[in-house]
Formats: sequence, structure tokens, C-alpha cells
Amino acid sequence: MNRRYRKTIIAGNWKMNQTPAEARALLDGVKGLCAKAKWCEVVVCVPYIDIPLAVRVLKDCRISVGAQNMHQEASGAYTGEISANMLKDAGVKYVIIGHSERRQYFGETDALVSQKVTRALEAELRPIVCVGETLQQRDMGITLEIVGAQVKAALSAVSADKLRRVVFAYEPVWAIGTGRTATTEQAAEVCNHIRTIVRKKYGARAARGVTIQYGGSMNDSNAKELLAELDIDGGLIGGASLKAESFATIVNAANQ
Ligand code: PGA
Repeated sequence: MNRRYRKTIIAGNWKMNQTPAEARALLDGVKGLCAKAKWCEVVVCVPYIDIPLAVRVLKDCRISVGAQNMHQEASGAYTGEISANMLKDAGVKYVIIGHSERRQYFGETDALVSQKVTRALEAELRPIVCVGETLQQRDMGITLEIVGAQVKAALSAVSADKLRRVVFAYEPVWAIGTGRTATTEQAAEVCNHIRTIVRKKYGARAARGVTIQYGGSMNDSNAKELLAELDIDGGLIGGASLKAESFATIVNAANQ
């Protein structure tokens, strides 16, 4: 973390968990334990169906609500989809774009990710853009090239004035939901590389201001060490965000 230049953001990604009935208790727990965090922004990215409840429960505290996906078009005949404007209108502030599960199971490409980022920014949402290599790509030694290409594609239509609203999450695919975290050195190397790419396109000042999270089996025992790295500005937390206590421990580590 380097709070002098940029926001630290801890975001929970609930994925396809928590019915509205179940979500109430988790939201109350998160609110009770995390609402006082002053030095980091706390976000819960909930399933669409839980958004109205989350916005209601969290409305009078500093915790923001995020979505996990959105459609790239503004509106129209896209049965079953949700638009950026709908999210904005519902009280959502952040939206995860291009999570590896979306890339893997729903065929989301770099080009689609770029369209979604642009649309999210137009609607004044803050996109949390996920990038990361597979195990095979890491073993081949092409991690930085792969992540670099994903970052460049995601930013291809983003102007300098909009960049400050973009958040990156470096999530090595092999570390997601596996209990196998990247080492601090591995995570820091890639987060630093992302910042370098931003610097080359937008300049040093912009690069210093961009929040770059780590995600992939981040939990209450490894968060502190990862967040001690200057280039790791927070976390995108899956499994550990489903228990208010473990999520709160991570938030506390970021709030030091
Ligand atoms: P995990 O998921 O923390 O369960 O590994 C992270 C993510 O997919 O965002």
C-alpha cells in the first residue's frame, strides 16, 4: 500500500453465493465490523439480486456496494442482462469487469472487457478490472506479457481523465479459490508491472494514483504481508469475504 498517492481498496467478491435471506446476516456482520475503516475503502460485490438489500443495509455507512458483472451495451434487446445505468441507478459504485471466471466460463475476451470498461466509466461506475495468468502461462514464463496485454486492452479506450476511476485486480488464475496464494514477490512483481504499463501510457503521476489490488486466496493470515508491498493497494477477496470476521481481519490489515 502507498496511501500517500492512492486509495487502498478491499473488495469482497461474493460470487454466486448468498440468497437475499442469507445476505442480510452477512451484510449486518460486515457493517458491524468494517464500517469504521478510515484508511481504506471497503466494497462488497454482491450478486445482482442482493444489490437492493445491500444498498439499503449499507446506506448510512462508508461501505460501498459493487456488482460482479454488467452488459457492455447501454440498453436494448439483451434478455437476462443488466446494464451499467441500472447498476448506477440502484446505488452501485463499483463493478468487477473481466473476472477470470467470466473469461473462462462465459468466453469474455479482452475486446469485450474493453467495451465493458468504457461503458462502466460512461455510467460513472468504477470498474475493477481483473487480469491474471493461468498456471500454464506462468510455467511458460510469459506472465508479464499476458497480464501486460490484458491491461493494455482494457485501457485501450480509456482517456487520461477517466483513468483515475479505474481499479485493477491482479488475480493469478491458479491462485483463485485454490488456497494457493501467489508469493508476496510474485504478486508485487506483477502489480508493479501493471503500474509500469499505466505509466508508459498516461505518465508517472497517473500511474502513482492508480489502485492495484491483489486477489487469489487472500485471507486473514496472508493479507498483512501482501499489503505491506508498496505496489499492492488492496485485495479482491472471494472465499474469505463470505465470513464477516475473516473479511474484517483483512480490512483491519489494510486500515493500519
Ligand atoms: P478467492 O477468490 O479469494 O476465493 O481465491 C478471489 C476472486 O476470485 O476474486
